[in-house]
Amino acid sequence: MKEILLTREQIHNICIDIADKLSERLKDEEQIPVFVGVMKGGLNFMMDLVKEVKIPIITDFVQISSYDGTSSTGIIKLKKDLTYPAKNKTVVLIDDVVDTGYSMHYLKHFIYDKYQPKNILIVTLVDKISIRKVNIDIDYYGLQLKENKFLLGYGLDYKELNRNIPYVYVPDQDEIKQLDEIAKRN
Ligand code: IMP
Ligand code: MG
Repeated sequence: MKEILLTREQIHNICIDIADKLSERLKDEEQIPVFVGVMKGGLNFMMDLVKEVKIPIITDFVQISSYDGTSSTGIIKLKKDLTYPAKNKTVVLIDDVVDTGYSMHYLKHFIYDKYQPKNILIVTLVDKISIRKVNIDIDYYGLQLKENKFLLGYGLDYKELNRNIPYVYVPDQDEIKQLDEIAKRN
């Protein structure tokens, strides 16, 4: 039996809540804030979140890779850079989950060094605190998870599958086996 961790409705409420806080916090910025989705996992959340933001913003995307099957490798590769110049602007980095923290740590340093933004805020739908390897300040999270669980859905994938499921859940072993079969065939 799969365990649903965040329903569509809960995710919607999280988006409204975080978007309200960001809109309030960033409403008087001199330069327009840049909301950056971390591909591919962070896209579902980012696109739902920005729809609830009440101030003018720019959207942009970065892509990195680090995950291999069901664990983080710690080796981060940048696959797609920002396209909008973020200099002196507040950058809001949005991802599906912060796990070891390697990805956000890497991105934060990369963006600070290359673009000199005014500030970088970190937003994640799920903050998995049990396996953090590097210290990273999360500014806003939807759900804090103490147990080390492998999650699927709403951007979170297993072998690129099930990002399209509209809620976040914990798959059981039978489902992982089925997904292994699908991944093998494709
Ligand atoms: P970190 O670098 O270990 O913090 O991992 C962050 C990235 O790993 C996330 O952006 C996800 O893409 C992926 N990830 C972490 N935990 C999970 C999970 O439970 N399911 C699927 N992907 C995950
Ligand atoms: Mg990700």
